[in-house]
Amino acid sequence: MDVNEQEGNKIANLEAFIKENFDTSAGSLRGIEKSLLSHLMLLVRPKTVVEIGTFRGATAEFLCNTLAANEISGKVFSFDFQEMIDEALRQRPGLVRYQNNKMLEFVPGASPDSLALCLRNSGIKIDLALVDADHSYSAVRPELELIFEALSPNGYIFVHDYGLANEGTVYAVEHFLASHKHARGLPFISDKSITKDSNKPLVSSSVLIRRAPYPLRRQKSFWYRSKYLLALARSRSSLFAQLFLFFKRLIQ
Ligand SMILES: C[S@@+](CC[C@H](N)C(=O)[O-])C[C@H]1O[C@@H](n2cnc3c(N)ncnc32)[C@H](O)[C@@H]1O
Repeated sequence: MDVNEQEGNKIANLEAFIKENFDTSAGSLRGIEKSLLSHLMLLVRPKTVVEIGTFRGATAEFLCNTLAANEISGKVFSFDFQEMIDEALRQRPGLVRYQNNKMLEFVPGASPDSLALCLRNSGIKIDLALVDADHSYSAVRPELELIFEALSPNGYIFVHDYGLANEGTVYAVEHFLASHKHARGLPFISDKSITKDSNKPLVSSSVLIRRAPYPLRRQKSFWYRSKYLLALARSRSSLFAQLFLFFKRLIQ
């Protein structure tokens, strides 16, 4: 096989991969959201991926396909009720292969309890999480707390269905961000909102959460402030101005 033929094969494989994996009709994620997820996977090269809400397994299979295609030795934990997991396995036989080679583990039960138990028993660090099960405040808020506590320094939480139609998810994310000064949120507009009704205003349909990637400003110590203010006062002309400035800034 010559170089041109090899290149042609690579492109054909890539096109087949995109056609199979970015199909917008499979699962609840749109193609553009899957694209974002796959880019995050390339960036983070996750050892552990958590998906809350398996449904028919389309995204679980997509996550495993992306790990395998990029030779990332990660594992996907996918959470849903046992009946739904059984249904996903019936509909997508490809999932069984990933279960057998330990790239995929289904965790049955109701989240957030099943998530809390799994994290406690396994002690895993999460590199990438997809929150997409029960969209109520009472489910999403504790899921975010549990995942953030186990999130690795460069990890991401992808919260799906964050938009006007899911107020519970929106409030859970907003309250979570407001109470965690080390967390950052980045809303992501997907084509879901655009294709459904072009007259509607664009609303975000997912949000990314991660740890603040830079150190937060520390409160300056009393001695640091005093030395700074003395230096500042010395640079002023009159003694009165120096003392006035010094005491004014000291008590501010
Ligand atoms: C929107 S679907 C998930 C779609 C899937 N992530 C995908 O991309 O194809 C939501 C799923 O969450 C599951 N679910 C709802 N509440 C749950 C809970 N408390 N614990 C676990 N799974 C739950 C439902 O059974 C359903 O299969």
